[in-house]
Amino acid sequence: MAPIFVHLPSYFASNGFNEPSSQETGPYADVFDCTYWQRVNQSPKLKDDFDTYMAAHKKGSSSIVDLVPLSSLVEGYEKSLPVLLVDIGGGVGHQSKELKSRYPFLDGEIIVQDLRVSKELEFAGIRGMDYDFFTPQPIKSKFLTSPDSSAHAQNKKSGARYYYYSAILHDWPDAECINILKIVADAMRPGYSKLLINGIVLRETGATYFEACKDFGMMAAMSAKERTLPQIIALGAEAGLRYVGQHTGHHADNGIVEFEK
Ligand SMILES: C[S@@+](CC[C@H](N)C(=O)[O-])C[C@H]1O[C@@H](n2cnc3c(N)ncnc32)[C@H](O)[C@@H]1O
Repeated sequence: MAPIFVHLPSYFASNGFNEPSSQETGPYADVFDCTYWQRVNQSPKLKDDFDTYMAAHKKGSSSIVDLVPLSSLVEGYEKSLPVLLVDIGGGVGHQSKELKSRYPFLDGEIIVQDLRVSKELEFAGIRGMDYDFFTPQPIKSKFLTSPDSSAHAQNKKSGARYYYYSAILHDWPDAECINILKIVADAMRPGYSKLLINGIVLRETGATYFEACKDFGMMAAMSAKERTLPQIIALGAEAGLRYVGQHTGHHADNGIVEFEK
């Protein structure tokens, strides 16, 4: 990160001191001639190192098992449907494995999606799937409004109960976040699927030093940011999603913001 931080004064002087709004023209691309994710994904070794870092880093913050009560995870899941949760951009699946280890009796498959899913992912009840979250979500509700009975039967068999994004939105500028959310909204089954967004939820004033450093780092590396609850709700609204509520833990490090379609 040091070369980017050193470059920031000249970056801002040349762009009129505006917040970066695109990864292709942000400070990282100025220094490295590619975006952060292009660099990480061009080398399997860099991606493995990044995954190891994320899995270790996440041990110090609240994950889905810490924030969402077991009753919420169990209640409302239709056992006739195959998928309980899709962990999108889930890296090596560390959070899904933690969930399945803590609650091995959970019904329904858990799917971990990432650009290149690691072999280490193999774990009872969890399936890995290569997937780019800027493309249509394959675990999709075939919700049809047609009264025809075969369409109704198909609808009953598809879609996941939970779509989960952890530490994803803070990697992207607003326009890309809205694209990511529109794609998942398209896959969600109205009145059944829930979208859970895990990450730092900034308070309106008085951010901690850690939160401010994370926010600054996301801007420098990815032209992105940490966001307040109203900012996250506004991104969801742009994608046609309705804010349901927030799950917060004992530590105010991060929370889960829940949406429905
Ligand atoms: C900050 S990490 C978060 C990993 C994990 N969700 C967690 O909370 O620890 C971001 C993840 O998004 C993945 N990613 C980046 N661009 C992606 C894309 N276009 N499609 C799918 N995954 C992507 C990265 O490979 C990485 O695993």
